[in-house]
Amino acid sequence: MKEQMLSEVKNVFIENYGVEPLLIFSPGRINIIGEHTDYNDGFVFPAAVDKGIAAAIQKSDAQYSSAHALDMDGHIEFQLDQLKPQAQGSWENYVLGVVAEIQNRNKVIGNFNIVFKGDIPSGAGMSSSAALENSVVFGLNELFNLGLTKHEMILISQKAEHNYVGVKCGIMDQYASMFGKKDHALLLDCRTVESKPYKIDFKDHQLMLINTNVKHSLSDSAYNDRRSACESIAELLGIKALRDATIIDLETIKDKVTPENYQKALFVIEENNRAIMASKAIEDGDLETLGNLIYGSHNGLSKQYKVSCEELDFLVEQAKLNKQVLGARMMGGGFGGCTINLIEKTAANTFAETVSKAYEKAFGKSCSVYFIALSEGTHIVK
Ligand code: GLA
Repeated sequence: MKEQMLSEVKNVFIENYGVEPLLIFSPGRINIIGEHTDYNDGFVFPAAVDKGIAAAIQKSDAQYSSAHALDMDGHIEFQLDQLKPQAQGSWENYVLGVVAEIQNRNKVIGNFNIVFKGDIPSGAGMSSSAALENSVVFGLNELFNLGLTKHEMILISQKAEHNYVGVKCGIMDQYASMFGKKDHALLLDCRTVESKPYKIDFKDHQLMLINTNVKHSLSDSAYNDRRSACESIAELLGIKALRDATIIDLETIKDKVTPENYQKALFVIEENNRAIMASKAIEDGDLETLGNLIYGSHNGLSKQYKVSCEELDFLVEQAKLNKQVLGARMMGGGFGGCTINLIEKTAANTFAETVSKAYEKAFGKSCSVYFIALSEGTHIVK
C-alpha cells in the first residue's frame, strides 16, 4: 500500500508539474496506553505504524503554491503571504496551518506544490492529521533548508492544529509520527518531550485494531472542554499540570469542583499511572497485567472521562467475552475511531470474524479490522 501510494503521488506530481518531486512518507500512530494524558504533561505510549501519508513535494516557479489531496480529489492554490484558516473540518487547514506556523517562526519559504494521499481513514483515531502536518513541515524543511530540528517541526505541526484546525491537542500524535521507530513503541514524557523506546514483541500475542467507522465529529469542542477542565483543576491545586497531582492531592479540593470534573481529573491521574505501569509490564513480559491496564484505561475513558461511544464500548465488551483477548480499549481522542486489542495471534482472524458479525447485527453497519506493523517515523523515500 505504502509503495503504491508513493508511486501514485509521484506520477501525479510529474504529470502536473513536469519535475521530479521529493517523496516523503509520514506515518499515523497507535497508542498502547496513556490517553488524554499528553496535554496534562503526562506519559503516553504510542508507536508509528505502516499506514500514513505519502507526499510528493517540490519548489515551484509559479506566483502561487498549491496542494492536491488525491483521496478527496481536492486542490487548492494559495499565496504564502495571505494565509488564513478555512472552514472547520477541511483538509486545507492542515497544510495551510503548517505553512503559516513555519512563517510565524521567521523562516522563509518559497512557492511549492504538494500532492498527497493517505491510507488512514480520517477520524479513525490514528492521527492522519498529524501525519499530514508532519509530511508538510518535513518536506518544506528539506526543500528550503530551514534547519528545523524534529522537535521544532512537531511543535509547528501542533501549533497548526491549535490555530488552524482548532483542536488544542497535546504533542503525542506529532511526536509519534515524527520519531517512530521500527518494531518499537515510545514511552513519551510529554513534559520533557523525550521518549524511551520499548521493543514490542508480544511473542504469541499481537495488537489488532478495530475501527467502528464512526467519525469523531462533535469531538473537537468536547476535546478542548476536557483540556480546559484539566487545566482549571491543576490551577486550583496550585500545580503546573495534572501530571504533578496524586489522588490524595485531588481529594483536598474535591468539594471545590463538580463531581464530573473530579472524575475527569481522577481519570487523568490514574491513566498516567497506568501508562507507567504498562511500560513495566512490557519490560517484564507480563501481558496479563498489560491487558488489565488496557481494560482499565477503557473503563476510565468511558465512565470517568466520557469520551467513548456506544460502538466503542460494544467492541470492548465483545473483546471481554473472548478469553484470548487480554485487553481492549478505545484509542485516540475518542467519540469514534478504533479500539486497540491485545490478542493471541492464533485467535485474531476468528475474533475479527465474530466481532464483525456481531457489530453488523448490533448497529447495521460494518467495522473494519487492521493489522499493523510498528514503523519508522516521518522520512524521505529515495
Ligand atoms: C488526540 C490528540 C492527542 C491526544 C489524544 C488523546 O489524538 O491529538 O494530543 O490528546 O487525542 O490521548
